[in-house]
Amino acid sequence: MKKIIIGNQKNYMTIKDVKIFLEAMKNNVNENIIICPSNIYIPYYLKRNFKVGLQNIVGSDTTCTGEITINQIKDLNINYVIVGHSERRINFNENDEDINEKVQELVNSDIVPILCVGETLEEKNNFETNIVLKKQLVNSLKEVKNNKKIIIAYEPVWAIGTGLIPEVEEIKEISKYIQNILTNYLNLSETRILYGGSVNSKNINELKQIDDLDGFLIGKSSTNSEEFLKIINSIKMNDK
Ligand code: PGA
Repeated sequence: MKKIIIGNQKNYMTIKDVKIFLEAMKNNVNENIIICPSNIYIPYYLKRNFKVGLQNIVGSDTTCTGEITINQIKDLNINYVIVGHSERRINFNENDEDINEKVQELVNSDIVPILCVGETLEEKNNFETNIVLKKQLVNSLKEVKNNKKIIIAYEPVWAIGTGLIPEVEEIKEISKYIQNILTNYLNLSETRILYGGSVNSKNINELKQIDDLDGFLIGKSSTNSEEFLKIINSIKMNDK
């Protein structure tokens, strides 16, 4: 199976950066690469036929200044939404209950949720990683029916934007653990699992060896076309 590459471009880019990126990437538009740009730039990516995702969403019935709802993206060919990113959990106090509501609404609307889970450094140092992941998964995926499309991104909070990544063996063990929770507690055996957090063109060579991973969620390194293309090309070499 081909690995999925998701670019979470956050709020990093200006329109000038976006135009340079789109031009450099024009021969790499394909169905395994999904870009989640700033909302204001989405039309530029759609016009170039990129698969596009949102970085966040609110429930479909919510009237809320400044937000985007599921009803608005349905007809726009935006089929992916990141939910539960740690930056939103931390900055906007999003909890598992809020996240569960979003996941359910997305699944019901046939849009793919990219659910982020991961432990903080303190939790890691207290050996609480598994407890935290189980709680996040079980609560965020409550009452979600088996759905091949759901994507889980394991993103240790301490690895995001820091240049640090877990040992390959740790990621292997954790992705097995996540798979186990999905299969045995949630009956979601067909869910895909990605790794995210400081993925770059150097560490991709070891990360891509982890067979259990279905792909990567890439932040900063997805905003520079040269760096992003190196990652894509490295993964392509391994794809069966
Ligand atoms: P990073 O971000 O690759 O810049 O660490 C990943 C993410 O926040 O999804």
